[in-house]
Amino acid sequence: MSLRARINTPEDHGSRGGDGHLVASYRAKLLEEIDLAEMSSLAAAERRARLERVLGHIISREGPVLSTVERTQLIRRVVDEALGLGILEPLLEDTSVTEIMVNGPDAIFVERGGRVEQLPLRFVSTDQLMQTIERIVSTVNRRVDESNPMVDARLPSGERVNVIIPPLSLTGPILTIRRFPRSFTLQELIGFGSLDEHMVYLLAGLVQAKFNIIVSGATGTGKTTLLNSLSGLIPPHERIITIEDSAELQLQQTHVVRLESRPPNVEGKGQITIRDLVRNSLRMRPDRIVVGEVRGGESLDMLQAMSTGHDGSLATVHANSAEDALTRLQTLASMSDVEVPFVALHDQINSAVDVIVQLTRFADGARRITEIALLDSHGGEPYRLATVARFDARPMTSDGRVHGTFQYFPLPRRTADRLYMASQPVPQAFGVAHRADQLATREAR
Ligand SMILES: Nc1ncnc2c1ncn2[C@@H]1O[C@H](COP(=O)(O)OP(=O)(O)OP(=O)(O)O)[C@@H](O)[C@H]1O
Ligand SMILES: [Mg+2]
Repeated sequence: MSLRARINTPEDHGSRGGDGHLVASYRAKLLEEIDLAEMSSLAAAERRARLERVLGHIISREGPVLSTVERTQLIRRVVDEALGLGILEPLLEDTSVTEIMVNGPDAIFVERGGRVEQLPLRFVSTDQLMQTIERIVSTVNRRVDESNPMVDARLPSGERVNVIIPPLSLTGPILTIRRFPRSFTLQELIGFGSLDEHMVYLLAGLVQAKFNIIVSGATGTGKTTLLNSLSGLIPPHERIITIEDSAELQLQQTHVVRLESRPPNVEGKGQITIRDLVRNSLRMRPDRIVVGEVRGGESLDMLQAMSTGHDGSLATVHANSAEDALTRLQTLASMSDVEVPFVALHDQINSAVDVIVQLTRFADGARRITEIALLDSHGGEPYRLATVARFDARPMTSDGRVHGTFQYFPLPRRTADRLYMASQPVPQAFGVAHRADQLATREAR
């Protein structure tokens, strides 16, 4: 059942003031004539159509003088409210909206095509917004109140919801809804200009030759989306275990085991972390481990797994550059309860991580791979990153777009050899560096 179908308890939504009265009164009349619970077996569109029809009859019967436009608007608002999320309903239905951001009752923003815009909409009151929020979080058996003013949840329909309310928020209740991300094929990502054919060719070889790949980027840069597309390149006979905080990956292979962590319950018990799942997955004979996002001590377990035979693993990490990604993995690994000396961690990362794919979200909303770097250092050496692809951005044009070109650099000899041994061709655009000075390398701590 969808989120919208679940949220249909009729007793709240105190619309007030202006035509809020009219909406509230018709909503009450509508709910007297139909049984919403009974309607929950209908598809969303049918349910809406039925409510609109019944409400149309009520309005005709009572006969308020309304223009056609007013009548249509009234019907829309009443039905929206009756179905549960009021003015958010049409936004949730709109598939071009990827994110809904409510900053208190008067400021509603959405993201479409990577751009954020404010909508000419508002909640009638802070109370009404709070009631909507309460409905949303109660669908996943969570509550939000002063003693529990922050909630992060995933709804049955896939949307990810975050709520933070006063006193933590100084601008009223804040609701952020991220639509369940669509999955895109690499071909579609090429169409968006996020990467090009040469890079896909290289990445395909790296995934198939079982390089360990870290996708790095800031919030909302498209890490999960790329991880999903890259996972699509894993050969179908391999056993894949995916581990996520909120299951977003949609792998198409048949031999996939999906694991999802669990937050503590209301009494603070029963938590299962990503780290627990990574450890458990090692006992499940994985060919590949795919970790949605590394953000804690699981970094250490994942690095150990990667360097001890679980090649071809994929993960994302929150970082602003390839070198940042390494530092971040290292910091997270050192946060684990096992004390590992700095040098040993360094060694671990050098032997575990093979490739870092850096993503960036540009000012025009475009998400692109801005670097593919190979980690070309060993043992306790300082990290040495060899850039093999890079996006060179040009200054923004007058229409607010960011253009640029992808550039390619030779692969380290070691990488080319490994591709060769796995019967993967070295893509022509890249070639092979025979001497160190032919590489586009840099050192990081
Ligand atoms: N290459 C792309 N081109 C256009 N839109 C994209 C691209 N990649 C992702 N998106 C869209 O951007 C939004 C964020 O994507 P995604 O969830 O993959 O990002 P993320 O980096 O994993 O975010 P978070 O840090 O919150 O986990 C989604 O709506 C997704 O559909
Ligand atoms: Mg993500």
